[in-house]
Amino acid sequence: MKKKEEVYILGIESSCDETSASVCVDGKIISNIIATQSIHAEYGGVVPELASRAHMQNIVPVVDKAIKDAGIALTDIDAIGFTQAPGLIGALLVGAGFAKSMAMSLNIPLIAVHHMQAHVISNLIEDPKPTFPFLCLTVSGGHTQIVLCKDPINMEILGETIDDAAGEAFDKAAKMLGLPYPGGPLVDKYAQQGDPKRFLFPEPQIPDLNFSFSGVKTSILYFLQKNIKEDADFINNNLNDICASVQHCIVQILLKKLKKASLQTGIKNICLAGGVSANKGLRSALVEMGQKQHWKVHIPSMVYCTDNAAMIAITGYYKHLEGMQSPLSVSASARG
Ligand code: KG4
Ligand code: ZN
Repeated sequence: MKKKEEVYILGIESSCDETSASVCVDGKIISNIIATQSIHAEYGGVVPELASRAHMQNIVPVVDKAIKDAGIALTDIDAIGFTQAPGLIGALLVGAGFAKSMAMSLNIPLIAVHHMQAHVISNLIEDPKPTFPFLCLTVSGGHTQIVLCKDPINMEILGETIDDAAGEAFDKAAKMLGLPYPGGPLVDKYAQQGDPKRFLFPEPQIPDLNFSFSGVKTSILYFLQKNIKEDADFINNNLNDICASVQHCIVQILLKKLKKASLQTGIKNICLAGGVSANKGLRSALVEMGQKQHWKVHIPSMVYCTDNAAMIAITGYYKHLEGMQSPLSVSASARG
């Protein structure tokens, strides 16, 4: 039975290829259902139109299961948070349309949530929570950012990628190696058996706290072309070492900038977020750097790193506490 003073938030995420719904009660996640769309694997990347259609099929059963798993009644929900931006527009529209009609029929507030802000806030799902202010390295398929998070609502981007995102670098490297989409987790898997120092890829020289991964991508391409000329089976014979070396290069680029951001701001509470934070090499290298730099490192559990609605529900909760609501006329937006 719901207590009168409790706040129940339903979160809906549909920005890319995961349809997800979650219920949070007073900031605690009590259900989190994620339907991952497997259809894209055969195309080597997310096909926007197929993603929208799969969201259409998934959204009702996913929301229904999230509510049933939470053991609550529809009428218990106080507000609905949904991913409003950024993402694939057709995919976002499915979640936005569903959230709006549900909010309207239940006569409860609608709360637009920014997907990247929610990735940062995913660090507040589990205990012990990081203390504010903290720096968050947000690494996903579409974004790479260093964010200064002052409280659950106020955050500032200190640096971001000027071209490809870290996840894209992983996925494109994997594609060049003939691995299926999404390649990031596979590079991670093979890297565990490989030598990260076997092959060296040049690190980009980008000023400030910004990132660039397009040069790394090109250097991997040239490196593979050159070696395949000499040994047609070069990739097969060296897959583990190539994956470990590519991963090492990407992780070093990320952590060097994070260290710079910490030195510049004096902030030693460090968080990680986004799909790439599921990478084992990144997680362990961050923990190691944290010990050397005397950082308090916080890394969410795997399930809260990749796209999920728990992070949308909890961001919705903090916005609700501040009285932040969105009109039903709010529109989804592909760009942030
Ligand atoms: O945050 P996310 O689930 O979706 C976006 O908002 O983009 O991130 C997806 C990205 C993909 O590029 C995927 O390859 C990458 O995260 N990824 C990984 C790993 N797991 C997911 N990259 C490297 N190692 C992993 N274990
Ligand atoms: Zn994401």
